[in-house]
Amino acid sequence: MKIYKANILFTPTPGKLKIIPNGYIVVKSNGLIEGVYEELPENLDWRRQVMDFGNKLLIPAFNDLHVHAPQYRNMGLALDLELLPWLNTYTFPEEAKFSDPDYARRMYRRFVHELWMQGTMRSAVFATIHPVSTRILADLFMQAGMGAYVGLVAMNRNSPENLENTTAEVIEGMRMLKQHLDEHCDDGLVQPIITPRFVPSCSDKMLRALGEFAKETGLPVQSHLSENRTEIDWVKELEPESTCYGDAYNRYGLFGQTPTLMAHCCYTDGEEMELMRKNGVYVVHCPMSNSNLSSGMAPIRKFLDAGIHVGLGTDVSAGHHMSMMRVMQYAIQVSKLNYAQTKGAMPFLSLSEVLYLATKGGGSFFGKVGSFEEGYEFDALLIDDTYLNYDNYSLEQRLERYIYLGDDRDIKRRFCRGVELPEPVFG
Ligand code: GUN
Ligand code: FE
Repeated sequence: MKIYKANILFTPTPGKLKIIPNGYIVVKSNGLIEGVYEELPENLDWRRQVMDFGNKLLIPAFNDLHVHAPQYRNMGLALDLELLPWLNTYTFPEEAKFSDPDYARRMYRRFVHELWMQGTMRSAVFATIHPVSTRILADLFMQAGMGAYVGLVAMNRNSPENLENTTAEVIEGMRMLKQHLDEHCDDGLVQPIITPRFVPSCSDKMLRALGEFAKETGLPVQSHLSENRTEIDWVKELEPESTCYGDAYNRYGLFGQTPTLMAHCCYTDGEEMELMRKNGVYVVHCPMSNSNLSSGMAPIRKFLDAGIHVGLGTDVSAGHHMSMMRVMQYAIQVSKLNYAQTKGAMPFLSLSEVLYLATKGGGSFFGKVGSFEEGYEFDALLIDDTYLNYDNYSLEQRLERYIYLGDDRDIKRRFCRGVELPEPVFG
């Protein structure tokens, strides 16, 4: 049992920020939250155990639902092209380097360290086609104590020869990764995820095999969907039988038959949107990436109104930063451009709505994660915003200013499933 005292802020629902000034959060030894209290119950045993964090802010940790670990070195570079030429010119050549496990270890250490730094305690991650490097990435997450879905990427068409695998190789690689994690990841925080890169990269045969593998194992799925207009037209050419881009995944059992993440959805509407709703497929909104690659503005308000699950992703390196706070800023700003574009028909997102998306919305993909309600896993960040809090700001204003003005240096402690995570030192 652990008891922490601080200014507690979280979002049980998108529209409402719950604030408990100088509140208490009681965490059981299994890492689950027993409850949050304004006043500690009359229990002397409890009173003796309180760890007092003073005037700091305690908020749920962030969850990044879409990020490419092997693109870490390209972060902040090479954003002068649209998606398809960007992949061919900058991204595929960098990912091909991960055939070398030493290079992979060097880059992946930095990547996992930075997730820790930014307060992202759970993530859904694309690796590359390389099984050895992908296992290294999974092991680094285990060492750091952070939660992750790690995907060996499947791609066997329209890609450079040195960055393609076969259907047999990807299924075998995923079986090995699953076995490795079943044997070595006792707490289940690191899990495999089936990862067809996107429809243009995967033949029908490959998609069918991955769908069957999902059905056999129950493993979740992640991919890209309706990111950019040229890409969508290309998918129509490649998959003329499919009624929409989403249907090209759905017909192979890769669209909500097991828990599924689809990044972007900038142009998702009509049939595709209805299919996502019906199948419980998550939209992963990556507004930083969508701005950088001139992809488009996803209609997140429409998705939320339709009851579709939504989370946020950095999509590094199409997104140029690992901070989920920056993604939250972009999510609000892009929603305001959408609001202007639709003459107010699409109301913009509020701060509490984007905080919800970055915490509980995305966290729900990992279980009871992203909130401080009873029974939730205690994933939390302790924030010292003293330097921003020089006047009479309310706790709500302090949070808003922290999200717009603060950064990782203000995060003083990080918790994942009840455990405080020290800075990972690898090697
Ligand atoms: N579509 C297929 N691969 C990628 C990728 O690496 N990044 C983004 N943003 N979109 C993709
Ligand atoms: Fe991506």
